[in-house]
Amino acid sequence: MDAENCVGEMSQAWDKLYSQSDSEPRYPSDSVVRFVYTKCARGAKVLDLGCGVGRHSWFLAREGFDVCGTDFSNAGIEKTKKLLERENLRGNFKVSSVDNIPYDDNYFDACVSSDVLCCCTNRVIQRSVSELHRVLKPQGKALIVVRADGELRQHIVNEIEHNTFLVDAKRHVGVASGREKVNEIVHYFDEDEVESLFCKFGKLEIDWLERTCDGMKYRDKYILATLEK
Ligand SMILES: C[S@@+](CC[C@H](N)C(=O)[O-])C[C@H]1O[C@@H](n2cnc3c(N)ncnc32)[C@H](O)[C@@H]1O
Repeated sequence: MDAENCVGEMSQAWDKLYSQSDSEPRYPSDSVVRFVYTKCARGAKVLDLGCGVGRHSWFLAREGFDVCGTDFSNAGIEKTKKLLERENLRGNFKVSSVDNIPYDDNYFDACVSSDVLCCCTNRVIQRSVSELHRVLKPQGKALIVVRADGELRQHIVNEIEHNTFLVDAKRHVGVASGREKVNEIVHYFDEDEVESLFCKFGKLEIDWLERTCDGMKYRDKYILATLEK
């Protein structure tokens, strides 16, 4: 796969994944919940960047935030809309890539983006950070959760650019048997990279999250970047 031109291929892969299965996580992650309760004012306008099938958008809407979500997977956006509609919750959802956020400058009070930029190539990551900076209001806050260097995984097969790997979905933990193989990519971040990526922001705090599963067969490691414009 060509790292420069794989965005179309990747969105199809996520579409396929979302239309094949209902096994995606349904509840918000602790990190997002903590960020929202500690950093976001009641009723704030919050962007869920790379909303997937909507677990964080659902949480934000239930908690009374004015939520907008974007994802380049049409299937993900459709599932997100249905999830909110089921409980008569409101939100605004658009199909778009993280490097082209379809909102005006200085529009959002806050943004959450969980496990998304680590699914992108270097060029898309760089552009998405500029876009995030553009759409956040001055003093706007963001929580960006990405996979970190040092994960222990068996499905990483091929480095397509620095620290960006192709994933063999058949060997992915938790993938339902019978599901067709789809190409995914994962980019592993380190602290220096995160610091230089977000250098335009006024404040940056970095935290780590690490957990093991299956008797330490796998180790998930995340960087949590909390930003203020
Ligand atoms: C691991 S899922 C996380 C979904 C959601 N944030 C969550 O925490 O449940 C990664 C999501 O990133 C989206 N994604 C990956 N690359 C993207 C891009 N370039 N633009 C927009 N969305 C992207 C995928 O479609 C997928 O929904």
